[in-house]
This record gives sequence, C-alpha cells and structure tokens, in this order.
Amino acid sequence: MLRSALIAASRSPGCRSLVERTPVLRPIVDRFVAGRGIDDAMRVARTIAADRLVSLDHLGEDTLDRAQAERTVEAYRTALRRLGEVGLAPRVEVSVKLSALGQALPADGEKIALENTRRICAAAAEAGTTVTVDMEDHTTTDSTLTLVRELRADFPATGTVLQAYLKRTAGDCADFAVPGSRIRLCKGAYDEPASVAYRTKSEVDASYVRCLKILMNGDGYPMVATHDTRLIDVATMLAEQTGRGRDDYEFQMLYGVRPQVQTQLARRGLRMRVYVPYGTEWYPYFMRRLGERPANVAFFLQALTRR
Ligand code: FDA
Repeated sequence: MLRSALIAASRSPGCRSLVERTPVLRPIVDRFVAGRGIDDAMRVARTIAADRLVSLDHLGEDTLDRAQAERTVEAYRTALRRLGEVGLAPRVEVSVKLSALGQALPADGEKIALENTRRICAAAAEAGTTVTVDMEDHTTTDSTLTLVRELRADFPATGTVLQAYLKRTAGDCADFAVPGSRIRLCKGAYDEPASVAYRTKSEVDASYVRCLKILMNGDGYPMVATHDTRLIDVATMLAEQTGRGRDDYEFQMLYGVRPQVQTQLARRGLRMRVYVPYGTEWYPYFMRRLGERPANVAFFLQALTRR
C-alpha cells in the first residue's frame, strides 16, 4: 500500500513541489541520483567503471512537449560524445525512456520516439557503445517492444527491459530469447492492476525465476537486474547449468542500492553493471526508489519532520 501511495505521489505536482523545495532531503536524493548535470554523471561513471560496468540514464519521462524530447536527444548525444572522447564508451552504455523521447505525444508520438531513439542509437554506435530501452507502465509495453524490434533491425545490440510482475512476460522472454538480443529482466517498478500483473512478492519472485530460466536457456544475453540476493544465487546457478560463461550474461543494480553486493559480485569476476541516473528531472525516479524499501521512507519522513 505504501509503495502504491508513493508511486501515486510520484505523479502529484503538489508532492513534487514539496520534495523539490526541501533542502534537507537532498542527501537522500543524492544517494540514488548521481547529480544534476553531465559533469556529475561523467565523474560518477568514471569511478564506477574502474571495477563495474555502467548504464547512464538522463532522467526524464512522460513528456508531452516535442521540444523537451529534442532536448533529451541532445543530452544523450552530448553524453555519448563525451563517453567516446574519454574512452569510457565500451564500459558505459546509456538507458533511455521512450516517454521522454516523445512516445506519448498526441500526434505521431511513436514515430517521433522511434526517430529520436534511432538518433541516440546512432550516436552510441559511433561512440562504440549500446542503448537499452527502459520499460515503463504496462500501457506502453506493446508499443515499446514494437519500437525496439524496429530499432534492432538497424542497431541489433539495442537492449530492452522485461518486467517479471507482468503476467505476459514469460511469453515475451520466449520471443526475445534469440541470438543478439539483450534483455534486462527486472521485477517492475510501477503500480499495475491485478488484471495484468502479479501483486504479491512471492508471485513476482516465482515469475522472475520462470522468466530467468527462459532467458538463460535461450540464445540472447540476459541482464539480471535485481538486488535480491536469493535471485542472484538462482541466476548464477542457472548460468552454470546452462553452460553460460561469465561474459554471456550480466548482473545489474541501481546506483546507491546495495553497493557492497555490487563490488562483491565484480570481485568474483562476474559482470556487474550499475544503472546511474542523473539530471534535473529526478523526482518520479526518486519516489519509485523510496517505495521499494520501507526503511527509505522512514529516512525520508525523519528528514521531513526535522526541517
Ligand atoms: P526487491 O524489491 O525485492 O528488493 C530486494 C532487496 O534489495 C530489498 O530487500 C532491499 O534490501 C534492496 N532494495 C531494493 N530496492 C531498494 C531501494 N530502492 N533502496 C534500498 N534497498 C533496496 N523497473 C521498471 O519497471 N522498468 C525498468 O526499465 C527498470 N530498470 C531497472 C534497471 C536496473 C539496473 C535495476 C536494478 C532495476 C530496474 N527497475 C526497472 C526497477 C525494478 O523493477 C525494481 O523495482 C527494483 O529493482 C527493486 O526490485 P528488486 O529486484 O531489487 O527486488
């Protein structure tokens, strides 16, 4: 219930203004967000890339403004050019949200998002790295997977995300477990109805294992995005059983979440990628992270009451 309330708050302009104007919350935000600008992102990416891989996310979502979508494209192109210039590109890729690139625009949204993402993929290819397309709420799943299939025709290494909480996802995993595909499997971060999604932790975890088995037994490159150490153990066991080498799959975690587990996995020689968000549009991302762990909400409320 708490999680649903925070996800609802992530779309409330009133809550947004309260959180953004409360300086004592800044250290909590900074735990999850690498900074406001590209210089912050580059500094954090360089530090992490010393022992792990990175996916940089220029924060933003749900834009209904074409000029804003264009600014997002430019922000990614700048980031990719700089990654290429300093030689970080092979270890640092980017993650994009189609809703930040115009997918929800009333006229030709999908077409605009496809063209915008294509330009980011071209910049990534030039820099020597890849793009992963994030997954948003279930109303966008079909559209996102269709656009990803189109992008893969020109940029075959383009990855995407499947969410284990959706009942459809085992089928999507089977469709995408093909040579060259890169699939990030996560539990799912939105508040979805029971008609389309599993709602209890045990059901979501069981679905995650089913989906993981399909991806590990398939021909693609699984990207195991979870901080759940039980599922990490299942993934390493499945990788062994299916004869995958250490370069044939990777783990992914979010910036600021379980950093010790991240470095432990990297020290074991496993591929570990950290998702590093940056930018001024941190509010909805931050609220979703708060809702994932009750202790985060407790820190947040303590800081609010101390102000
Ligand atoms: P779970 O929520 O069960 O957490 C397991 C344990 O990890 C917790 O007990 C806690 O200790 C720790 N933990 C988890 N989240 C924490 C947090 N925020 N703060 C502190 N501790 C925390 N979702 C989506 O819908 N679309 C997407 O594109 C992506 N992309 C994505 C990329 C990457 C790299 C990751 C790791 C995750 C995503 N997600 C996502 C988010 C994902 O769907 C999910 O909401 C979170 O990863 C939390 O789920 P866990 O698998 O960690 O399990």
